[in-house]
Amino acid sequence: MKFFIDTGNLAQIKEANDLGILDGVTTNPSLMAKEGVKGEEAIAQHYKAICELVDGDISAEVLSTDFAGMVEEGKKLAAIHPNIVVKVPMIKDGIKAIKWFTDNGIRTNCTLIFSAGQAILAAKAGASYVSPFIGRIDDSGWDGMELIGQIRHIFDVQNYKTEILAASIRNPLHIIKAAELGADVCTCPLSSILGLLKHPLTDIGLAQFLEDAKKM
Ligand code: E4P
Repeated sequence: MKFFIDTGNLAQIKEANDLGILDGVTTNPSLMAKEGVKGEEAIAQHYKAICELVDGDISAEVLSTDFAGMVEEGKKLAAIHPNIVVKVPMIKDGIKAIKWFTDNGIRTNCTLIFSAGQAILAAKAGASYVSPFIGRIDDSGWDGMELIGQIRHIFDVQNYKTEILAASIRNPLHIIKAAELGADVCTCPLSSILGLLKHPLTDIGLAQFLEDAKKM
């Protein structure tokens, strides 16, 4: 399973990348706004900075919701760097835009996926990635992981090449479950990635080893 970091924060991206386990980055308008990135030029510069930090796929989301606007924006985003993957919302015009991008050699990430039906449509349109939002499904009282398993099954049976990108990750257990269920990618906040490191027995064991090392 590939690891992406889900943030627009350059320091966090660098920290995750320095671990040597990072395969890419996802952003969204909320995450970019959090970094104070405003205006077309500043946004493009920020994506460029991310692409220079990480050698992997970088999702950059279109802000338009109509076909023509998404195509226009997506072409500009894709021109920033070869690693840019255009993130398109799961709406009717989004599907048309994904098909257009596919036909024109531009890779896409279909975002805001909450059902298997939506994932099928995005895969049919040729999306490179579908992003089911696990945490937001859990927050609403359903089991987000069930959706990952269902999409995995369908994509395998139908031989769809679209990669399943588990998104809206809230904790390390989400990452473990996504890996177990065969997600191709997990995009996580830095806290969830670092959470995988933690186990009290590791800390206790290391403290003991260091204590005993003094007697060596
Ligand atoms: C995915 O690409 C989204 O950016 C993200 O995972 C959404 O997560 P949230 O539900 O924590 O906002």
